Amino acid sequence: MNFEALAQRYGTPLYVYDFDRIRERYERLKEAFAGTKSMIAYAVKANSNLSVIRFLARLGAGADCVSVGEVLRARKAGIEPYRIIFSGVGKRDDEIERALKEEILFLNLESEAEMERVEAIARRLGREARISIRVNPNVDPKTHPYISTGLHENKFGVSLDTAKRMYIRAKNSPHLDPVGIHFHIGSQLTDLEPIREAAGIVADLVRSLAAIGVEIRFFDVGGGLGVVYRDETPIDPADYAAAIKEAIRGLDLTIVCEPGRYLVAEAGWLVTRVLYEKRNGDKRFVIVDGAMNDLLRPSLYDAWHGVRFLPADKEERGAASEAEIVGPVCESGDWLAKGIALPPTRPGDLIVIEGAGAYGFVMASNYNTRPRAAEVACEGGRCRLIRDRENFEDLIRLEEAYLEDDDDA
Ligand code: LLP
Repeated sequence: MNFEALAQRYGTPLYVYDFDRIRERYERLKEAFAGTKSMIAYAVKANSNLSVIRFLARLGAGADCVSVGEVLRARKAGIEPYRIIFSGVGKRDDEIERALKEEILFLNLESEAEMERVEAIARRLGREARISIRVNPNVDPKTHPYISTGLHENKFGVSLDTAKRMYIRAKNSPHLDPVGIHFHIGSQLTDLEPIREAAGIVADLVRSLAAIGVEIRFFDVGGGLGVVYRDETPIDPADYAAAIKEAIRGLDLTIVCEPGRYLVAEAGWLVTRVLYEKRNGDKRFVIVDGAMNDLLRPSLYDAWHGVRFLPADKEERGAASEAEIVGPVCESGDWLAKGIALPPTRPGDLIVIEGAGAYGFVMASNYNTRPRAAEVACEGGRCRLIRDRENFEDLIRLEEAYLEDDDDA
């Protein structure tokens, strides 16, 4: 990837994605599920650029969405309604209504109250809502507490008992069609055992539902496959798929999985330029033009992202020493990397942050009135813009009209 040429052409900070790598990931996972009915529903939240979604759509992916906005993005990008799932712990009435009218594959429900709401809306629309219930299997996924979701202490899903009650109720309702079951125990998972355990628990629930006449067709195993940010050993997709196939042995189910990070994280970079260096006491700071508003993961989760220092003459720069890479935002928490060995830098040097393809741009904000970065996609050696850099006008567009006259002027 020629980051220097891209930075010159499109400016920095800049998000760059490698679509060939996304394809490789998609195909590896799809291949792992060969021999069973399966659908890969890309978790749009990880990177919802329309061109990214369209690329995955053309490979055959469906979409896992968590807002009506994401559903509409998926539709716009060309994903068929019957490949779209709508999940999330708090859906508004208008979102439920729109999803039903779009005739998506199913809504993933996370509480009894939500099911009642969906039933009422479906009744009003004279429809039958295809639903799935998110079960919380209460297993510890052994990941960061902010992205761990499969324990009862989390807000996600319902207990096995509640789920069973909900399925019986749904089966008896003319406006609900319980077609799926869902679990998602966390994100950035690097240990297969909790997934195997959860899949086993949920498959047993499917068996006991079948015994009382509730026939589930979709076994939605969520997302969560971890990637390498530093020195993690990721789960092999083949082992992952084998564990799930084993858990549902004897059942006639379509496996749905919802990977986000696995498909896009390692296919994206945040390209920044050095503004200055400074020292405060013993501490060396390299200040770059990208910041926490562009890539929030370090500030929010203490996340580690790899760093590439790219100047052509870096070998001639002298001895490396430890530095913290920080952005211009007025927050002490605004950092992109800590404890990084870097040779002396100069203004304009390129520093590229790795692993930024997932939960990067999508979590960006305009804090400090910083326009969000442009995004570029590369495929087969050719790169193209897939989102313009925002400008000041974009940022004030929704406020300008309300500006009161200045009496003093
Ligand atoms: N399905 C459900 C129900 C989810 O909640 C998530 C992620 C996914 C699928 C996709 O998970 P993945 O395959 O990407 O691990 N912002 C955080 C990650 C939040 C994940 C939330 N749910 C981060 O930057 O690490």
